[in-house]
Amino acid sequence: MHVLHVVGARPNFMKAAPVVRALASLKNIHQTIVHTGQHYDPNMSDVFFRELEIPQPDVNLGVGSASHARQTADIIARFEPVVLERKPDLVLVYGDVNSTVAAALVCSKLLIAVGHVEAGLRSRDRTMPEEINRLLTDQISDFLFTPSQDGNENLLHEGIAPEKIFLVGNVMIDTLVRLLPKSEQYRPAGAQSKYVLVTLHRPSNVDDLPWLQQMLGTLAHISKDLTVVFPVHPRTRQRIAQLEHQAVNNGCLQLVDPKPYLEFLALQRDATVVITDSGGIQEETTFLGVPCLTIRENTERPITLTMGTNTLVGRDIKRLEKEVERTLAGASRQARPLPLWDGHAAERIAAIISNSAVMCRGSSGL
Ligand code: UD1
Repeated sequence: MHVLHVVGARPNFMKAAPVVRALASLKNIHQTIVHTGQHYDPNMSDVFFRELEIPQPDVNLGVGSASHARQTADIIARFEPVVLERKPDLVLVYGDVNSTVAAALVCSKLLIAVGHVEAGLRSRDRTMPEEINRLLTDQISDFLFTPSQDGNENLLHEGIAPEKIFLVGNVMIDTLVRLLPKSEQYRPAGAQSKYVLVTLHRPSNVDDLPWLQQMLGTLAHISKDLTVVFPVHPRTRQRIAQLEHQAVNNGCLQLVDPKPYLEFLALQRDATVVITDSGGIQEETTFLGVPCLTIRENTERPITLTMGTNTLVGRDIKRLEKEVERTLAGASRQARPLPLWDGHAAERIAAIISNSAVMCRGSSGL
């Protein structure tokens, strides 16, 4: 059986890594990795392949950055000939980035079976590009691998046939479980004392310059008492450069380059509190038991609110300041162990794939 993986952006790499490993341990599975090139900076891509020990991509589509329409269209146009030439039995797509929906669409038109890893998550906010990607990818996938029960419920509610849905657990946590011991080699600077870890990259936060300025002002204020470490995503770096008042980097607000996986994991592990708008970090902090304040009005990962350490603070600076204070005063919630977030989700995916007798959509009538 030939399984082709499509990855493109940073959050895909930690999800694909365990699935590639799990499939490699099975007999009679041939694997191909296609990188769309959505993320191309070495510190957003290459370093993750090295640290996560993902084999080098067989094909790089080299699409780079562009508008959503252009980027998605380029992936579609460049991926189709690869599929026609390589003839995979199954294509696996990951998460909710533009590469995910673009590759799924190509395969659905060519009657190639698609498996969506991290299916079923919903923020119910259609202004988020990722929500559109999630909705569309799930509608045209044949295997929907969900990380938590809420994902199954969302898919059933949208009319997806139950036999396509597989509750397997969280593959990103597989990578975390495997590499947490290795992250021990990193003791983040200042880890002897308390520090705040920050990541922000969502368009709704960083493309709104007055709001970005306000958030940076608050972080600078917090950093008078406590070190704030902020690895800055390229999108955010570009927006900060456009701000009128650049004087944010005084006090202990450290604006640093994006971190490799292991170093970032160590930063999360030892943080007093994490402030973010990322999806994956809400899950990783829940697993690690580290308080997380999410600067968004909603989340597609509600289980991190109900069972984890995540708190939505919305776009409310006062609330953010209050929650930081509360957390520093020790008022954080204990995370409970989440079902199937156990380091073995990818093995379950591999078992389902190898047990599926007929993988080809054309002959199975999927
Ligand atoms: C993408 C995903 C988002 C994910 C995020 C993680 C979509 C719709 N969004 O958002 O879900 O959480 O990745 O990082 O797919 N850039 C570089 N170097 C790079 C990559 C990007 O400089 O290696 C710059 C480009 O100028 C680009 C901007 O960052 O304009 C945004 O990149 P893009 O891939 O379009 O979206 P992200 O904001 O990274």
